[in-house]
Amino acid sequence: MKFLIIGKNGQLGKEFARILSKNGSSFKGAGRQECDISDPAHVLELFENIKPDIVINCAAYNFVDKAETDYPNAFKVNAIGAKNLAVACKKQNAFLVHFSTDYVFDGKKIGLYTEKDSTNPINEYARSKAAGEEFIEEYLSDYLIFRVSWLYGEGKNSFIYKLLKWAKTQEYLRIAYDEFSVPTSTRTVAEYTVSSLKKGLIGLFHLVNSGYASRLEWAKLLFKTAHINKFIYPVSRKQFNLPAERPGFSAMSNEKLKKELNREISYWDDELVAFCNNSDLI
Ligand SMILES: NC(=O)c1ccc[n+]([C@@H]2O[C@H](COP(=O)([O-])OP(=O)(O)OC[C@H]3O[C@@H](n4cnc5c(N)ncnc54)[C@H](OP(=O)(O)O)[C@@H]3O)[C@@H](O)[C@H]2O)c1
Repeated sequence: MKFLIIGKNGQLGKEFARILSKNGSSFKGAGRQECDISDPAHVLELFENIKPDIVINCAAYNFVDKAETDYPNAFKVNAIGAKNLAVACKKQNAFLVHFSTDYVFDGKKIGLYTEKDSTNPINEYARSKAAGEEFIEEYLSDYLIFRVSWLYGEGKNSFIYKLLKWAKTQEYLRIAYDEFSVPTSTRTVAEYTVSSLKKGLIGLFHLVNSGYASRLEWAKLLFKTAHINKFIYPVSRKQFNLPAERPGFSAMSNEKLKKELNREISYWDDELVAFCNNSDLI
């Protein structure tokens, strides 16, 4: 089995490289230099050279606010990029694993979102990610799409990294008490993706740690665990006036995946403590 990690330099891409090396799996990684997923010829050329069996797409345009005014580029990567990978997978008979987001939901549901709930993106980033899901579902019959949320790992593109930076540079922090989702580690995502592949799962799954939290609860637990003594002032998310609207409550249920794998998934708070105890960031 040969794996190809697309987006190898992102936080999730790096975690897959770590876990596949640890498992002794054969894999190649490609960053944007080796493969720009928005270019179909580039994708096909890479696939013809590598001949992967399983493609793990960790590449994405993740600038939620910038996407409001830069939709063509977000769509080019998150939607056309996903389509290009699906087409190349079909041609090379490779299996595609793709990642999407809780932001495909509008946040109006009272309860955790399941795979059966209808999507209704409320910002341009989310629209581009939802379009990526649709392209994959249209072009492939066998695939894995995992919706993940509030991802953190050994990288700079996470709320945890920002909190640690702000703690060093700001007198106090203002964090939203009214924005909820599931902080989810890249370790959880990579580990349960590999388990899903071993089990031969196919389709759409929500892959998040268990439970849910507000940004405020997340920040407070991080500082407590990392022994950072910094005042956090709770504010409404509306005070930030960000360009992109975000769902207030987009926490997803991981029940479907847990049932299929017959395995528990750790709670977000236990996972965060374990991360803090082992991370180079802390
Ligand atoms: N981060 C979150 O909180 C979050 C939440 C929900 C869903 N997700 C999803 O989870 C997945 C992994 O996210 P992540 O946090 O690991 O992302 P990340 O750290 O931002 O990494 C994304 C990678 O994609 C690469 N990339 C961007 N455009 C590309 C292109 N045209 N061709 C090839 N590579 C390109 C980037 O390369 P450069 O470094 O060169 O730009 C970067 O290395 C993504 O699908 C993301 O949408 C993330």
